[in-house]
Amino acid sequence: MSADGVDLKKRRMLVAATSVVGAVGAVYVAVPFVVSMEPSAKAKALGAPAEADISKLEPGQLMRVKWRGKPVWIVYRTKQNLADLPSLDDKLRDPKSEVPQQPAYCKNENRSIKPEYLVAVGICTHLGCSPTYRPDVAPADLGPDWKGGFFCPCHGSRFDLAARVFKGVPAPTNLVVPPHQYLSDTTILIGDDGGAA
Ligand code: FES
Repeated sequence: MSADGVDLKKRRMLVAATSVVGAVGAVYVAVPFVVSMEPSAKAKALGAPAEADISKLEPGQLMRVKWRGKPVWIVYRTKQNLADLPSLDDKLRDPKSEVPQQPAYCKNENRSIKPEYLVAVGICTHLGCSPTYRPDVAPADLGPDWKGGFFCPCHGSRFDLAARVFKGVPAPTNLVVPPHQYLSDTTILIGDDGGAA
């Protein structure tokens, strides 16, 4: 008992009990909050644009970036690659990219913003395998007319270096060119074109 008549022992017990209730209450409040935040944070990360640093990419090389869980290819096409593209038109199913598999600003002969850089989603439009980059010219397995492109190992679909599909293969359409923009000469933002489409 203290000088003012308060039972100190009782007071301490009351304070301790109140703290426990407070802590338990906080836990119950915090858990639903965390759970409800989690999906939206994940969804946000999944839908977020992806930045690609292309400063080290050499002519003829391909780099991969992950965007929305998908592989996105960036290919630095050589002058020869670009010169070869029009010569393939007769062999392609949609050489002029009439099917909207690309933003309007990539509906051109190279299917790109800058001629030398192809940006495409690396998923076959047949059943979703990821085609292999085959930049080699006239390899034995792809034939003497092959000028470089992509070959899908699942059912043999072929695409040129503008990701345009050849005739006579299972894939129905060209590969998808995702929305994108150049933040600088060496940085591409994939998944956000600032409304350019
Ligand atoms: S998934 Fe590519 S050819 Fe079938």
